[in-house]
Amino acid sequence: MKTALVLNGPNLNLLGMREPAVYGSQTLADVEALCLKACAAHGFKLDFRQSNHEGILIEAIHDAGRAEAAGTLAGVVLNAGAYTHTSVALHDAIKGSGVTLIELHISNVHAREAFRHHSYISPVAKAVVAGFGIKGYALAIAGLAELTQTV
Ligand code: DQA
Repeated sequence: MKTALVLNGPNLNLLGMREPAVYGSQTLADVEALCLKACAAHGFKLDFRQSNHEGILIEAIHDAGRAEAAGTLAGVVLNAGAYTHTSVALHDAIKGSGVTLIELHISNVHAREAFRHHSYISPVAKAVVAGFGIKGYALAIAGLAELTQTV
């Protein structure tokens, strides 16, 4: 059974209390429970993480690239939060590690401020999910199953 890594970036630990009109009232623990269900439905183990630190996210992506090459990881669902719009380093980590990665946003970033319209992640992501609220995580996991299906 392969693992799906769901990686959350800065401020996503505040889900539920942070701008509920934009991100909803459910917490990161609720997101984890939803991901667990989606992973079970698609035959994945779940590795669910959150960090406010760019370097920790980068190292998790490096490790994920190695795990995917070793055949133990299906890929990554990444909500990079605001690092989406700023981080050349995350872009390079995804590209350099060769990992299969789906970019995810809870909100529709394209319907928000102009500074959220550019993503350093999109050019190195296999696919992008945005605007479905936290249900997007389940959609991204289903997408990962679709992308990595071998039969
Ligand atoms: C986000 C959108 C980003 O612009 C923002 O900085 C976040 C969350 C989302 O899930 O909608 O932190 O990635």
